[in-house]
Amino acid sequence: MIKFENVSKTYSDGFQAVKDLNFEIRSGEFLVLIGPSGCGKTTTMKMINKLEPHTGGLLTINGKDIKKTDTVTLRRSIGYVIQQTGLFPHYTLEQNIGLLPDLKGWDKGRKKQRVHELLDMVGLDPDTYAGRYPKELSGGQQQRVGVARALAADPEIILMDEPFGALDPITREQLQDEVLRLQQDLKKTIVFVTHDMDEALKMGDRIAVLKAGTILQLDSPETLLRAPSHGFVEEFIGKNRVYQNPEFIPVKEVMRENPATVLPHRSPLRAITYMRNKKTDTLLVLNEEGVLLGIVSAYDLQANIDNASQVGEIMKPVQNVLPETATAKDALMAVNQAPYGIIPVIDSRKRLIGIVTRGTLISTFASHWAGKGDEV
Ligand SMILES: Nc1ncnc2c1ncn2[C@@H]1O[C@H](COP(=O)(O)OP(=O)(O)OP(=O)(O)O)[C@@H](O)[C@H]1O
Ligand SMILES: [Mg+2]
Repeated sequence: MIKFENVSKTYSDGFQAVKDLNFEIRSGEFLVLIGPSGCGKTTTMKMINKLEPHTGGLLTINGKDIKKTDTVTLRRSIGYVIQQTGLFPHYTLEQNIGLLPDLKGWDKGRKKQRVHELLDMVGLDPDTYAGRYPKELSGGQQQRVGVARALAADPEIILMDEPFGALDPITREQLQDEVLRLQQDLKKTIVFVTHDMDEALKMGDRIAVLKAGTILQLDSPETLLRAPSHGFVEEFIGKNRVYQNPEFIPVKEVMRENPATVLPHRSPLRAITYMRNKKTDTLLVLNEEGVLLGIVSAYDLQANIDNASQVGEIMKPVQNVLPETATAKDALMAVNQAPYGIIPVIDSRKRLIGIVTRGTLISTFASHWAGKGDEV
């Protein structure tokens, strides 16, 4: 755990770049720092590995004051990736990645094995790439090597300062996915700086929004989107952005309550009459407790009106349902596969609480994209 207690940084010219930071970065957490240029993101990050020692307050890693930790030892236990990879041009990739293991005194065999393993891990074939020089790689490949190098000595913490800032969108997305995958496998604590809110939302367990050397809000992507604590945060995120990120919207917000339902022992004729009144062509079949049993369409009822006496004999099982914990993204993905275009939303006891249809999705999203907020 990295803990900031009233941490500040005043540069030698007297400029206070970071003011009284109070927050914690949990072990295994992916924490994103975001904010406008000059707000102190890089400074905050560099204080952690003492590239820019803090000038006030207490900064601890796993309870140890970093001021009292030997700087070289500290740096070797923290990986660092920056935008301009910082690879040594006259070293091969093997030498670049092997630098820290070298410093740690690993023997040749162990080092070579580790370098190959790491190249593999970041998607570069070791046999092809180990002997190459940085200039013989594309920007994206260089960044991969940067990530491999940061992982070389298996540090607990990795600092990444706009690591993908200079990459084209496709390469950037690939590397984001790889880093997320690595993070899941390796459970590192990652502090990641970016300018890009989409990247922040995709990568972060939590996101800290900085402005002028202070943290305005530190929250999960979901909370940040749904409950920005300051006008500045909301502006910075972009109003209504939550509707561009349906994975953060609970399904209940795109669902309609009280859909037309029927008990299984009703007669088909009665069900058809009821559907006409309700102007619907499907009914969900529920038992007395509200548990979803099946679905029946007007067409099926008509076709079987003479050879069935109860709706329950005609209903079909519902294959696609969403739990109430689902998101609007789940609903968007499921709606095309749903028979009759209806996805029931059920609680943990299988009781129906609403339905999602293309219509409910469109009306929710359209109203927000049209900038009308909740009016529609
Ligand atoms: N060595 C230094 N001496 C004096 N001031 C500095 C120094 N380094 C940075 N600053 C100032 O501290 C503030 C924060 O800088 P920092 O590099 O942390 O910002 P940042 O949020 O990383 O910005 P960017 O998004 O542009 O990278 C800026 O106003 C910057 O000019
Ligand atoms: Mg910076």
